[in-house]
Amino acid sequence: MNVTDTGSGLPLVLLHAFPVDARMWDGVRSDLTQELRLITPDQRGLGYSPLLDAQRPPSLNDVAADVVAMFDRLGLEKVVLGGCSMGGYVAMALLRFARSRVAGLLLSDTKASADSVQQCVNRLSVAERAETQGTRGWLAESMIPGLLGATSQSDRPGAVAALRALIEDQPPEGVSWAQRAMAARRDATSTLRETGVPALVIVGEEDTITPVSEAERMVDLLPYGELAVLPRVGHLPAFEDPVSFTDVVSRWLARF
Ligand code: MLT
Repeated sequence: MNVTDTGSGLPLVLLHAFPVDARMWDGVRSDLTQELRLITPDQRGLGYSPLLDAQRPPSLNDVAADVVAMFDRLGLEKVVLGGCSMGGYVAMALLRFARSRVAGLLLSDTKASADSVQQCVNRLSVAERAETQGTRGWLAESMIPGLLGATSQSDRPGAVAALRALIEDQPPEGVSWAQRAMAARRDATSTLRETGVPALVIVGEEDTITPVSEAERMVDLLPYGELAVLPRVGHLPAFEDPVSFTDVVSRWLARF
């Protein structure tokens, strides 16, 4: 598993969204590492991490196990664990079997529910297309309007171009594997209800993939959950407005 590990002090592990890699956190890295140790892995099959055990049925549980193995390798007894969207699904999967390793939970633009049948069908068709045609020329174009908020799409051309480049850099087999793994994931409602650590739920006000209502539901489920709605961003707040994201995360982390 390819890991970027910078700074020192409180370990904060941030898991990336789909279909990108840990470079989505580059904009928050220098500010956050003034005060803590930021660890950002590439999920198997994406970024610079190889696709392991490709013959096994794709599962985010295996990604969560990779993350726990990374904790062991780095000697991390407990971390503050965060994830954006797919990264949040992985964080929730990890809580099911390694809750004792998590001192705090940060969920950005994600949701507790599993997919509807229609969502699964859509994922499998993206997975098949990636396998047969690769991802160049269609994946970024089809996903950017959902991933970036309306403000970023109109006012942040640099973010649009950088996101396109990041998506086009992902190996098609990793994209396909991740879609199949997300389609197979379980509902995490009871997992969140049983989460006895402080939790921050962040959501972009303009997020249309996992909107504010999904974030509110997670905060209702989490015994120690707090909500932060960030204005003028969509599904990827840390990428679209790193300063606002860092600000809200730093204030919340001051308690650890
Ligand atoms: C993501 O940003 O990780 C994806 O939108 C998650 C999903 O497809 O459910």
